[in-house]
Amino acid sequence: MINVKAQAYVFDAYGTLLDVHAAIARHRAEAGPDAERFSEIWRIKQLEYTWTLTLAGAYLDFWSLTERALDYAFARIPSVSQALRPKLLEAYFKLDAFPDAAETLAALKSRGLRLAILSNGSPRMLAAATQESKLAASLDAVLSVDAVRVYKPRPEVYALVTDRFAIPAQDVVFVSSNRWDVMGAASFGFSTVWVNRGRMPDEYPDAQPSRTITVLAELPALGL
Ligand code: 2OP
Repeated sequence: MINVKAQAYVFDAYGTLLDVHAAIARHRAEAGPDAERFSEIWRIKQLEYTWTLTLAGAYLDFWSLTERALDYAFARIPSVSQALRPKLLEAYFKLDAFPDAAETLAALKSRGLRLAILSNGSPRMLAAATQESKLAASLDAVLSVDAVRVYKPRPEVYALVTDRFAIPAQDVVFVSSNRWDVMGAASFGFSTVWVNRGRMPDEYPDAQPSRTITVLAELPALGL
């Protein structure tokens, strides 16, 4: 679905505006040769826990799942010293934004669009990261799954946007680097933009993105 009259642009946070591998990158030298694999396992387990808990009808906030996933990564990759645990958690709490995130949000904001984050992140994590990365100034709302205590891609999560802004789903452009999140958002009725930085193969053929880009900076020129 392509909407030429978007009223709101809504962004996923982790992986889309915020670089989930920035925490390990800050401590790359200390982490050693398995740093990239360690960071991948940390991220994959963090997401897996969101899906398995939601399927089981349970909920723990994203910070708790981030800590548990980190502990799993330490157990799987013993070459990374556990002494890094507090440093990695501190870095994750105030995660770096991608270099083009702040300017892209500011460009969209200057057109009078309403901007929001819709994220699995806990309210405290999102507040810390958006302040640190200077994204907060452009955002009208920072919406967390914590309000409904289920994780993406459950439709109750995407409904937080239409409830907050009191607009129909087709007036929303949802932007995510996570293809499964684009699937959830497209199924809900949002126009969607997939930020495919890694040039990964497409998935979920029944829930196609409206557009695909490779960096956030391409977004304002799409004319959605
Ligand atoms: C987010 O909701 C999916 O982690 C991603 O921010």
